[in-house]
Amino acid sequence: MGVGIRVENLNAWYGKTQALHEINLDVQANHATALIGPSGCGKSTFIRCLNRMHETTPEARVEGKVKIGEHDAYDGTSATKLRRRIGMVFQKPNPFPTMSIYENVAAGLKLNGYRDKRHLDGVVEKSLMSSALWEEVKDSIHKKSGASLSGGQQQRLCIARALAVEPEVLLMDEPCSALDPISTGKIEELIFELKAQYTIVIVTHNMQQAARVAEYTGFFLLGRLIEYDKTEKIFTNPSDKRTEDYITGRFG
Ligand SMILES: Nc1ncnc2c1ncn2[C@@H]1O[C@H](COP(=O)(O)OP(=O)(O)OP(=O)(O)O)[C@@H](O)[C@H]1O
Ligand SMILES: [Mg+2]
Repeated sequence: MGVGIRVENLNAWYGKTQALHEINLDVQANHATALIGPSGCGKSTFIRCLNRMHETTPEARVEGKVKIGEHDAYDGTSATKLRRRIGMVFQKPNPFPTMSIYENVAAGLKLNGYRDKRHLDGVVEKSLMSSALWEEVKDSIHKKSGASLSGGQQQRLCIARALAVEPEVLLMDEPCSALDPISTGKIEELIFELKAQYTIVIVTHNMQQAARVAEYTGFFLLGRLIEYDKTEKIFTNPSDKRTEDYITGRFG
């Protein structure tokens, strides 16, 4: 299996404060990779560098190389074009509240100029099926608004919205931290299925979750990637003392 995302010598700053130091990492395509580490260690900053969202923060700066598949993310390609190939799901579900379920899922395609109703209908249905929401909402996709769904349903709606534009990569920043155990279970199952088609990077504070869904895990500390390996190795026999301290709960 190939490399889905290649990161070389990545450094990131907020103003004068350096938030990421010399990150080097190959994310495997069609696998899920978990990123763990204590609060403030740079996990969100890191994934925001992958889709060039970091640069939208005032005074934020990035140096280094990011390749998504064969494409250089920072080679002058427009950030909008790049983000089409990278879906992102956030900690707090953020559907467009007044839009219907259908309009939420179709939003990205419409933004990209797609107008054909039959095509849009097909994509909306397929995306909602992929995100395991279709059965629950199929009779109300035009009637119900994004905001009228439960938190777990809203998160699956956001996943459907991200999938609708057929990205290669799905970035998830603590996608389950606002959800109950049943919704969390559904999202985890979903991650398991989606990785056949997508390269998934998931930030999580839940180490059991990392162990359940991800083949690879990276441990961040103070803006550095301390260790990156097979998940099983990280959780049973880490190479670095700091990883061991973290996963055994000695700090963080
Ligand atoms: N918009 C910002 N402006 C200035 N500094 C920021 C900004 N966002 C994050 N930082 C700083 O960058 C560092 C890394 O933050 P980041 O949000 O990437 O951590 P994290 O690992 O995702 O933490 P958490 O687990 O709490 O979400 C922190 O020191 C944080 O204070
Ligand atoms: Mg974060």
